[in-house]
Amino acid sequence: MLVSATGRTADTTACIACHNDKMVANPILDGQHAKYIEKQLHDLKKDLRIHAQMQGIAKTLDDKQIADLSKAFASKKWANPSPKSNPAIQEEGKNLVRKGNCTRCHGSELEGTYNIPRLAGQRSQYLKTTLLQYKNKERNNFPPMSSMLNRYSEEEIGVMAEYIAGLTYHD
Ligand code: HEC
Ligand code: HEC
Repeated sequence: MLVSATGRTADTTACIACHNDKMVANPILDGQHAKYIEKQLHDLKKDLRIHAQMQGIAKTLDDKQIADLSKAFASKKWANPSPKSNPAIQEEGKNLVRKGNCTRCHGSELEGTYNIPRLAGQRSQYLKTTLLQYKNKERNNFPPMSSMLNRYSEEEIGVMAEYIAGLTYHD
């Protein structure tokens, strides 16, 4: 929990009910980059990113709460690792990531920065869901990601998600 400059706390308790180790379909927020979290919350609030539960939650937050919660989560430690993927997945996953030049934006270790999300060690189930949503334009709050994923089959997206989830990065 983080005490803001005005003394009000950014209470992450309500968020942790869903964003925790046991709910493996939901994205890891601990250690994600602040500006990225902040943008997603604003997008959800403005209905630019669609997810009924999260849109509802984001609409209850004002700009200051969004900024404080984003900083609070960003200041936590990313809890790695999920188990390394098997060698066949690693080989194919690496090639698929190379093909999409994902490291050009997400960093050489897919660690992300500032408003670009960390991918390394994110949960495979969430990565797969969100990548498919980009591909199908159900997630359309950053169109370049959607056009990139046109080049991948659903099966390839599954392999890439599993590979990326198994990557470790220590900051
Ligand atoms: C009822 C469960 C639930 C609660 C409570 C909840 N979330 Fe979420 N959150 C989700 C789910 C599920 C997703 C994935 C949405 C999707 O698939 O697009 C998500 C996605 C997000 C994302 C996008 C992450 C990314 O990597 O793109 C952010 C940021 C986020 N939540 C922040 C919060 C914050 C801050 C709170 C507390 C104020 C909170 N959430 C409370 C379920 C929840
Ligand atoms: C041109 C730069 C760029 C490239 C290349 C790129 N991305 Fe992204 N990606 C982004 C940005 C920026 C975001 C955040 C979008 C936003 O602000 O809403 C993002 C978001 C994502 C997310 C959502 C993360 C989350 O927590 O929800 C995933 C997953 C992702 N990218 C995977 C990939 C993969 C896999 C590749 C390679 C096939 C790739 N990206 C290539 C810029 C890029």
